[in-house]
Amino acid sequence: MLALLLLISTLLVFSHNLAWAQDSPSLAPSGPWDAFNYAPTSRTVYATSIRHVEPSVSGSENLLNGDNGGATLSENGAWVTLDFGKEVGGLISMNFDSMNSSSSSISLAFTESPMFISPISSDDSSFPIATMDYDGVLPVPAPLPVGLWTQPAFSLRGGFRFLTIASTGDNTPVTISNISCAISFMPHADDMTAYTGYFYAKDSVFEDEDFLTKLWYAGAYTVQTNTVPVNTGRQVPFEPQGHWANNATLGVAGPIIVDGAKRDRAVWPGDMGIAVPTQFVSTFDLLPTRNALSTMFANINPQTGALPESGPPLSQLGSDTYHCWTLIGSFNYYLYSGDNEWLSTIWQNYTLAVAFIEGKVDSSGLLNVTGLRDWARQGGGGHNSEGNAILYKVLTTASALASYANHTSLSLSYSANASALKTAFNSAFWMPDVGMYRDNTSTTLTPQDANSFAVLFNVTLNDTQMEKISEGLEKNWVEFGAVPPELPDTISPFISGFELQAHFVAGNDSRAFDLLHREWGYILYTNLSVQSTLVEGLTANGSLYYRYYQGYNDDAAYTSHSHGWSSGPTSALTFYVAGLTITAPQGREWSLAPHVGGSTTNTQAGFGTALGWFGVDWERVIGEQTALNINVTTPEGTSGAFTIPKGVNGTVKVNGTAIVEDAQEGQIVELKGGILQIAIS
Ligand SMILES: *[C@@H]1O[C@H](CO)[C@@H](O)[C@H](O)[C@H]1NC(C)=O
Ligand SMILES: *[C@@H]1O[C@H](CO)[C@@H](O)[C@H](O)[C@H]1NC(C)=O
Ligand SMILES: *[C@@H]1O[C@H](CO)[C@@H](O)[C@H](O)[C@H]1NC(C)=O
Ligand SMILES: *[C@@H]1O[C@H](CO)[C@@H](O)[C@H](O)[C@H]1NC(C)=O
Ligand SMILES: *[C@@H]1O[C@H](CO)[C@@H](O)[C@H](O)[C@H]1NC(C)=O
Ligand SMILES: *[C@@H]1O[C@H](CO)[C@@H](O)[C@H](O)[C@H]1NC(C)=O
Ligand SMILES: *[C@@H]1O[C@H](CO)[C@@H](O)[C@H](O)[C@H]1NC(C)=O
Ligand SMILES: *[C@@H]1O[C@H](CO)[C@@H](O)[C@H](O)[C@H]1NC(C)=O
Ligand SMILES: *[C@@H]1O[C@H](CO)[C@@H](O)[C@H](O)[C@H]1NC(C)=O
Ligand SMILES: *[C@@H]1O[C@H](CO)[C@@H](O)[C@H](O)[C@H]1NC(C)=O
Ligand SMILES: *[C@@H]1O[C@H](CO)[C@@H](O)[C@H](O)[C@H]1NC(C)=O
Ligand SMILES: *[C@@H]1O[C@H](CO)[C@@H](O)[C@H](O)[C@H]1NC(C)=O
Repeated sequence: MLALLLLISTLLVFSHNLAWAQDSPSLAPSGPWDAFNYAPTSRTVYATSIRHVEPSVSGSENLLNGDNGGATLSENGAWVTLDFGKEVGGLISMNFDSMNSSSSSISLAFTESPMFISPISSDDSSFPIATMDYDGVLPVPAPLPVGLWTQPAFSLRGGFRFLTIASTGDNTPVTISNISCAISFMPHADDMTAYTGYFYAKDSVFEDEDFLTKLWYAGAYTVQTNTVPVNTGRQVPFEPQGHWANNATLGVAGPIIVDGAKRDRAVWPGDMGIAVPTQFVSTFDLLPTRNALSTMFANINPQTGALPESGPPLSQLGSDTYHCWTLIGSFNYYLYSGDNEWLSTIWQNYTLAVAFIEGKVDSSGLLNVTGLRDWARQGGGGHNSEGNAILYKVLTTASALASYANHTSLSLSYSANASALKTAFNSAFWMPDVGMYRDNTSTTLTPQDANSFAVLFNVTLNDTQMEKISEGLEKNWVEFGAVPPELPDTISPFISGFELQAHFVAGNDSRAFDLLHREWGYILYTNLSVQSTLVEGLTANGSLYYRYYQGYNDDAAYTSHSHGWSSGPTSALTFYVAGLTITAPQGREWSLAPHVGGSTTNTQAGFGTALGWFGVDWERVIGEQTALNINVTTPEGTSGAFTIPKGVNGTVKVNGTAIVEDAQEGQIVELKGGILQIAIS
């Protein structure tokens, strides 16, 4: 008996040690939230319904859900549109069953939005033009092969929901069957639904009570569709009109994270500022991020230390803000992974890149932004507040990274420069009468990006500033979301993802929930989009003509419907609403700070790191006094800071024992890792 007990405890210790040694965390618990996971259960997917069919097509329903028989396109011009039910991407296969003519041919047209279903054109990915027919179709020329046919690799469509097949040859019938799509994204995943994190909450205000859970999973799936094989990038120079090609090499290794499923299919470090936290809380799939960041550092300008704005083959240069995003992204990757080997590999180039951007700080103490390219905003450049807020985040994270890497004096220098920048920033940009920061020293425009970043990155000096900014940002809202003054007549779910976090940080939970409902409540449900992944942008009135006057040439068909940069709610729901986040590499230290002032009374979420499981489950009990019960699980040996949520006061009990009497909102209580049942009433 004793021997058996010893054996069991030895096994327990052994498995505990194994967990510490593992790089990949174990899977999230299963539960009702699994029903909301959009990831396909198989790498081969089939159409789930017929969206449109011409009378000259018979048997179209046979094309659904696998090998169920054929459909016949009886004459030239006959066409049928299949709906895959959600965003997918990959190579199409089908069988050509019988043909009585060697002049039969067909074409394939793809689109994400149903607005661009057409037998003669796909939605656009190669280049934007106002006629919205740049890409054209993939012709399958005569003579058609009898038997199984697979689309050539270069013609991959990385993101679509609708596939239109048209007969383009002579008037003899063509019979097709067994149409499938071999998913190309997440090439390294056996099971794409195997998430290491989860989220679950009911919304008591929004018309669909599962909105928050659906949105969390839509963000996670969006980033999965942006995780691609390294040799499937968009070709540059762009293909001539009527063509597309997705066989360019994207970086130093794959899989790699890109901006969008359909386009650009290139590494963009700014986008990663939102997409990588999403990846962390959902799949912990950090290898594509490591590969993307390594690609940026490998392409540093060795003379100046400038990093490219985007990865190859686009290799766009000349963006100070995206230069900074690679540096911030390096911190995020290290925080999540604790990958010391990678940090030492890039350290020399990382510090060179910090020196490059620090070299643009002039005698005013501010960064003079001269690399003007950015997320599409107007009016950057010079002593610009957005660029300076981002630089502040670079310096605070550089200080933390230098400290983790034991470069103590460098860490102190970065930190001193951050403090100096914060002072210069507030005296140059704060407008006390308006209660917001201005865009630069010669304007009164109050940008969405800089004001959101200032709150989120802690460039503000006091809570009053945060409250004023949160209030001021709301003034830019219209029915479908926030309209950035720095890019008029658009809605940017990228910048709104930062604004969302800023409202939580400012302590305004109900305003944050309002923005969630308004902007992502539209994005997730509108039938202009794919109702599964998240669109890159909209116009202020909710149309797809995002950036119509700013680079996208009036081409609504060019807009991407699966853009990781729009997934801000996924990490915000975990980090702020559920309220659990990590503050030291791998979660050695963490923070528990639930935001209980939104339209949920129960929220649960969790994620894994190499140290183990981080889970939280809270309920708000509304009675004479608001009571809060929180169960939190974190790995043994870690430590955390619990912030008493806004709107909650009382005695804090842990496992039934009172540890703080009369605690006040905002007060911080130190906790140790383990399983804790916290009650405040
Ligand atoms: C990509 O595909 C096009 C079209 O087939 C081809 O001309 C080109 O050589 C391919 N490029 C690469 C890098 O494979
Ligand atoms: C081809 O011709 C054969 C014999 O006339 C006929 O049975 C078959 O249905 C035809 N196939 C198609 C696709 O029309
Ligand atoms: C049907 O398509 C699949 C690919 O999705 C292929 O593996 C299979 O062989 C095809 N069936 C036939 C009968 O050709
Ligand atoms: C660092 O930059 C140099 C160019 O100066 C480049 O050759 C090297 O590959 C980069 N190192 C890493 C790890 O990216
Ligand atoms: C920023 O630098 C550019 C190029 O050196 C210069 O033309 C511009 O005047 C500077 N802007 C400010 C605000 O100093
Ligand atoms: C920094 O120093 C500490 C204490 O000596 C050590 O445990 C740690 O591994 C070092 N970190 C790195 C990245 O070398
Ligand atoms: C700090 O700022 C000063 C003045 O701009 C600069 O000379 C120095 O290189 C900066 N230090 C670091 C570590 O970037
Ligand atoms: C914000 O910055 C101030 C210094 O300006 C610092 O004392 C404070 O701890 C920072 N807050 C956070 C949440 O990092
Ligand atoms: C907060 O900081 C701003 C900028 O320095 C200043 O104008 C304001 O008076 C401060 N407010 C409070 C309440 O300290
Ligand atoms: C916390 O865990 C206890 C014990 O499993 C359970 O009874 C309670 O309902 C949980 N509370 C929350 C808020 O999940
Ligand atoms: C919590 O206590 C503070 C200080 O006594 C008070 O100002 C605040 O209104 C209380 N909040 C709630 C929600 O009871
Ligand atoms: C709290 O209670 C849980 C069981 O509900 C137990 O697993 C855990 O070890 C306890 N934690 C502390 C710090 O006592």
